[in-house]
Amino acid sequence: MKQKASRMLRAAVPAVALSLLAGAVAAQELVRSDTTIPYREGNYVSIKPAHPDNPLQEVISGNEFRTAETREQNADEFQNPGYLLVEEGAALWSMADGTENKACADCHDDASETMSGVGASYPKWDDEAGKPLALQQRINGCRENNMGAEPWKWESGDMLSMVAYVKNQSLGQPMKLDYSAGDMEAWRAKGEELYYTRVGQLDMACSNCHEDNYGNFIRADMLSQGQINGFPTYRFKWQGVGSLHRRFVGCMRNIRATPYKRGSDEYVALEIYLSWRGEGLPLESPSVRN
Ligand code: HEC
Ligand code: HEC
Repeated sequence: MKQKASRMLRAAVPAVALSLLAGAVAAQELVRSDTTIPYREGNYVSIKPAHPDNPLQEVISGNEFRTAETREQNADEFQNPGYLLVEEGAALWSMADGTENKACADCHDDASETMSGVGASYPKWDDEAGKPLALQQRINGCRENNMGAEPWKWESGDMLSMVAYVKNQSLGQPMKLDYSAGDMEAWRAKGEELYYTRVGQLDMACSNCHEDNYGNFIRADMLSQGQINGFPTYRFKWQGVGSLHRRFVGCMRNIRATPYKRGSDEYVALEIYLSWRGEGLPLESPSVRN
């Protein structure tokens, strides 16, 4: 069945026909899994019961859907290339920068104490901004306002390293946001709406793949629940580490939708909603994926 679907795709379908048939092709691309699902093989570390309002019965880390080789590389600090960025982040932590000539460490001391749990609680409501901030935005807030330094670009090596470093201080701690602060509930609801809205030429919503079809194959990839507890992530496909919002961009491109910008309100809202959908999953940053 899987072969048939991929043969169909490889056939030279003209672009116009493909876009007309997009819905049907997408439906046929999805192949019910007839092999053993890795996460059922016995590694239940990252499967937690979902809270009662969650449409998912259980929340399962993306790691559990990957092959044994990928999971092995994920688990081993020396094989997981994401840890090179964690090291880089540790170095940046104590490096003075900006007109104030200050380092993160000057104000935040030992990250293993001051940042423990912080990465698991973002995006977080910020009264001054009047909106929730993703961790990247909070870090840039410190760079600009507390250090007099240039903000880092979202997908820059420095930002990825610092986010990996800060998130890694919460390794194994459950993701949990404070939805009672400010307008967090409205932002969560906005993220939920985005999650279930069909977009793009393939007319699909996030939920069509990550809720209706996790455990099934799409081409050679086994679909996961699209959880976010492993970001930033090293991907073989990227040959490097990328942010969560980069993944959002990729998933939207795959369904031929116009992606939003990294750091946009839309993606922060999605991130908040996905944190809620994965509440309780342990942070596993930085993770390895194919
Ligand atoms: C056509 C199917 C499809 C749609 C629709 C889709 N994705 Fe994905 N997504 C994938 C595939 C394939 C992967 C890689 C395998 C996996 O983890 O599911 C992936 C991976 C992810 C991951 C990484 C999970 C991990 O543990 O590494 C996240 C997060 C994600 N998607 C979020 C989204 C969001 C948000 C949307 C809606 C804007 C979306 N996806 C729409 C196919 C899809
Ligand atoms: C001059 C002092 C100063 C410097 C330097 C500084 N910060 Fe901050 N940072 C603060 C203050 C003050 C807060 C707000 C504390 C609060 O909200 O409880 C804060 C808050 C944060 C938070 C949010 C913590 C939370 O619990 O939500 C993060 C993350 C953070 N800083 C990261 C960094 C990083 C990374 C750097 C270096 C690039 C840095 N900061 C540099 C003073 C500083």
